[in-house]
Amino acid sequence: MKTKHVSESYIETNDIVHPADANAYGIVFGGHLVSLMDKAACMSAFKHAEAKVTTVSVDSIYFQHPAPIGTMLSLKAAVNRVFHSSMEVGIKVTGWRPHEKETEICTAYMTFVALDENNKPTPVPEIIPETEDEKRRFENAEIRRDARLALRDKLRKKNTSP
Ligand SMILES: CC(C)(COP(=O)(O)OP(=O)(O)OC[C@H]1O[C@@H](n2cnc3c(N)ncnc32)[C@H](O)[C@@H]1OP(=O)(O)O)[C@@H](O)C(=O)NCCC(=O)NCCS
Repeated sequence: MKTKHVSESYIETNDIVHPADANAYGIVFGGHLVSLMDKAACMSAFKHAEAKVTTVSVDSIYFQHPAPIGTMLSLKAAVNRVFHSSMEVGIKVTGWRPHEKETEICTAYMTFVALDENNKPTPVPEIIPETEDEKRRFENAEIRRDARLALRDKLRKKNTSP
């Protein structure tokens, strides 16, 4: 199976916060933001895997700053690391308003699984990190995966033991 570079999975999309996307306080509704992030991250995983992908987990969602109505959002996503059928995508959202400094709005990690024609998990190409940031994210992704699966297995064990 061919190997690919992180840069090949890079996705950047834009959106703007409309009144219908906001909560009662006039700032972007978190669920709306997560939906945009899931879509951008999914496209990144899809680009890397070149196969159907589905979201299996979302974690470490950090809402750093509010985005009021009228904020232009920039969503950036790339595959941090591939495991076997799954891959971790990192997503960062920044916000821009005229005459203001661009701010970090939200970050998260989303894990996607590639599926074959029978909707069963299927292997995805290896990924090669090149820059220092890509290498750091690649290393950290394995630590996060271990923590994710360990928590899942610990809770499964606890909840199924007599
Ligand atoms: C994703 C899905 C196919 C995985 O099925 P499964 O029976 O758990 O498959 P497996 O146990 O073989 O796991 C497949 C991969 O997912 C990973 N995985 C499973 N649960 C995970 C979790 N909670 N967090 C991170 N990774 C997870 C496994 O480690 C494995 O990765 P690997 O192949 O890289 O080692 C299945 O859970 C599913 O269909 N979920 C619903 C997806 C969905 O509807 N998403 C929302 C719409 S996109």
